[in-house]
Amino acid sequence: MEKKKVLLLGGAGFIGLNITKFLSENRDYTITVADNFSRGKKDEYLIKLLENPAISMIEGDFTVPATYDQLEKDYDYVYMLASVVGVNNTLEIPHEIIRINTALIYNTLEWLKASFVKKVLFTSTSECYAGTIDAFGYKVPTPETIPLTIEDIGHPRFTYAVTKMLGESGFLNYSRKCGFECTIVRYHNVFGPRMGFKHVIPHLAQRFLANETPFLVYGHDQTRSFCYITDAVEGTVLAMENERSNGEIFHIGTMDEITIEELIREAGNFFGYKGEYENAPTYPGSVARRCPDITKAKNMLQFEPKINWKDGLKLTLGWYKAFFESGKESFEKAFEKPKANV
Ligand SMILES: NC(=O)c1ccc[n+]([C@@H]2O[C@H](COP(=O)([O-])OP(=O)(O)OC[C@H]3O[C@@H](n4cnc5c(N)ncnc54)[C@H](O)[C@@H]3O)[C@@H](O)[C@H]2O)c1
Repeated sequence: MEKKKVLLLGGAGFIGLNITKFLSENRDYTITVADNFSRGKKDEYLIKLLENPAISMIEGDFTVPATYDQLEKDYDYVYMLASVVGVNNTLEIPHEIIRINTALIYNTLEWLKASFVKKVLFTSTSECYAGTIDAFGYKVPTPETIPLTIEDIGHPRFTYAVTKMLGESGFLNYSRKCGFECTIVRYHNVFGPRMGFKHVIPHLAQRFLANETPFLVYGHDQTRSFCYITDAVEGTVLAMENERSNGEIFHIGTMDEITIEELIREAGNFFGYKGEYENAPTYPGSVARRCPDITKAKNMLQFEPKINWKDGLKLTLGWYKAFFESGKESFEKAFEKPKANV
């Protein structure tokens, strides 16, 4: 039997590289990773994966339609991960978020329309419904049925969510009309080694290593539920490979809702911090509570997160500690001032 063919658009990024690793270890597929390395990097982790002859790499900017000519036309599974992400980016380059994410979505949909791909998975975000919780007090933990809301259409912060809403609608509706299957996952605070540098967890590692004291706890009573990368990968692959997921949206995360203060104190314990903590203001525009209801993914996909947040945190902080202590340069303009950037 011919091997299944898989394409990961944006596959050199945090989640894409981990899906590639999982598939190469657990499936006998032919895998193509496509990326422009605007954020994902050709680092030792990617280079190691590419030693596997089943994995190949295409480098290109997929906001340009001609780049799709490098792809084949008959993948079994396409993971659509390519996107500009991050709260900092929405504030600094909101126009680029609109241009790049919209072009990536539109070009991918038009390419799918003209190709013979069997199924695509679009990666969306809890940000699409953050406004509903804030404006209407909708329930937490939150299921997929929640209406999506943009609270302030002109605010740069919402550009990312606007493009992800376009993606959800675009993939679901092209799929119905254009001869391919589709599923959507909405991620909720996925974390782990090599997740980048513009996020609360790598910030914490840097700040504890820099011995910040007193340690400022931004948004101490905000809540999040953190999902370790291997669980997010498993949920994603389950969503892709289960036929019952066609046309469906799944919340992927954990239901273990914790405060930012709990997260920070646990990180402090890891670094042996003995100083004072001091509460500081909340990062503006940041949702007060976030926790997905993952009952649908549990029931339909048998998705069961396995890594408890404290264990995941130790693994992640350990990775960042080793990274910073090795003197390596972070590959993003990382740490300017502390923000509860989650
Ligand atoms: N990590 C999370 O917690 C989280 C939460 C919600 C949603 N998501 C979504 O999941 C997906 C993957 O997230 P991630 O954390 O791995 O992000 P990431 O930034 O690490 O990965 C995205 C990849 O897309 C690539 N890319 C960007 N523009 C491109 C272009 N023009 N052409 C080709 N490649 C391009 C980047 O280089 C990067 O490698 C994204 O779509 C993101 O919006 C992630």
